[in-house]
Amino acid sequence: MSVFSPGDDLSLALAAAADADLVSMARFRQADLHITTKPDRTPVTDADRAVEDTIRAKIRAARPDDNILGEERGHSGGTESSREWVIDPIDGTAGFLRGLPIWATMIALTVDGIPQVGVVSAPALRQRWWAAAGQGAWTRRAAGPPEKIHVSGVSALEDAVVSYNNLPGWLDAGHHASLMELVGRCWRARAVGDFWAYMLVAEGQLDIAGEWDLQPYDIAALWPIVTEAGGAFSALTGEHDISLGSALATNSLLHDEVVAIIRGGD
Ligand code: IPD
Ligand code: CA
Ligand code: CA
Repeated sequence: MSVFSPGDDLSLALAAAADADLVSMARFRQADLHITTKPDRTPVTDADRAVEDTIRAKIRAARPDDNILGEERGHSGGTESSREWVIDPIDGTAGFLRGLPIWATMIALTVDGIPQVGVVSAPALRQRWWAAAGQGAWTRRAAGPPEKIHVSGVSALEDAVVSYNNLPGWLDAGHHASLMELVGRCWRARAVGDFWAYMLVAEGQLDIAGEWDLQPYDIAALWPIVTEAGGAFSALTGEHDISLGSALATNSLLHDEVVAIIRGGD
């Protein structure tokens, strides 16, 4: 059994996010930002790598026995431990390099593959969200006090606002029909994008967010924040597994109905 409580792990993740914010903000909207293309043809900047290195150093020093998975540096640790830190140093790199403020550093701790702690820090939006199992979900705006957050109480699809995020992801995955069915049955549909849509579900401003074509590091930190806020989180097909390549966050009241649409629509 771990000697570290969820509160200890959350404190470490928050401290790592604070370090990360200093590194990322120093590179945001800088003319000399260095951009290259990864083998998967997605862009990466010097900021992505520097942020991940900063977080890894912090975690490695405090939790030397834990495994780490990060988008830019891969797996490290390889121990028998059931604990793995999952890092997306900049979620929304494509926006970051264009100067859009919608990007965040995401840090999660998974135990036996289940996310237990999540921190999402969006310094250009001046907001951070966090949660640990059993401790509720929280946000802090600018220098304000921490605020406990909760999902909406919208219980009918015709009153719901959905964010489908990355439209090409739905089309490439062959889910055009189920997306049209979902959008057609909801009150409003928007593409908010990246981490932000899921955080807006946790805060009750959106009711449904989901997309295809994701990796575990795109998902892990979002999960505990949504569930601790009273929402439901799964793959779009309903399984509770961050490795299946998709994410669906809802206020929980609408979850089964959305999964049924996805499963039945294509
Ligand atoms: C991206 C974001 C985005 C999703 C893309 C991801 P990145 O992550 O999570 O919301 O639609 O599929 O690649 O590359 O900016 O960390
Ligand atoms: Ca990401
Ligand atoms: Ca990233």
